Amino acid sequence: MSVRIRLAERRDAREIMLIETTRFAEPWSLGMLLEEIADVATRRYTVAVEHGRVIGYCGIMFVLDEEVHVNTLGVSSAHEGRGVARALLSDALEAARRRGVARATLEVAVSNERAQRLYYGFGFKPVGVRKNYYEKSGEDALILWNDELASGPPERPTLDS
Ligand SMILES: CC(C)(COP(=O)(O)OP(=O)(O)OC[C@H]1O[C@@H](n2cnc3c(N)ncnc32)[C@H](O)[C@@H]1OP(=O)(O)O)[C@@H](O)C(=O)NCCC(=O)NCCS
Repeated sequence: MSVRIRLAERRDAREIMLIETTRFAEPWSLGMLLEEIADVATRRYTVAVEHGRVIGYCGIMFVLDEEVHVNTLGVSSAHEGRGVARALLSDALEAARRRGVARATLEVAVSNERAQRLYYGFGFKPVGVRKNYYEKSGEDALILWNDELASGPPERPTLDS
């Protein structure tokens, strides 16, 4: 497989939105996404591209150069289970590490066991719950933290072929 991870650009927004709107019950708007991509000072958005098409994306936010928040991570359902999310997250956390950031956090729906398994594999641990985090469903979110980003990279991702 020739999946390449690169920085997201404005021109990727439409394809990212195709994934975002099918994978999330409360998708971001195109305007929000464009603002995030443009804010290169505090955000880092990447896309996984195969055969010229965006098949996944990840966005992180740097907070005071001390911690990083994983804002979003999505993979097209046609490409799940191939290690694409693992590769995107690994790349994002490596970029944070290069900036000297030692802590990472994110919220994940309590029912999203698949994503939780991914994050636990990267050393994230649950530290609390945000009640009614998701507006539409009223579902709670787990708050995950990884305080040991600096201690070394996670296992390298292997994208299948
Ligand atoms: C969660 C999501 C990003 C995973 O993407 P993916 O590319 O399929 O994930 P990967 O193939 O990289 O797998 C990463 C890990 O996820 C878990 N995973 C993958 N497929 C799984 C499955 N069918 N069942 C349970 N866990 C699974 C495993 O822990 C896997 O690691 P492993 O292969 O070392 O066991 C994707 O399912 C998605 O976009 N879901 C909808 C949006 C979402 O929930 N985003 C996260 C919001 S916090």
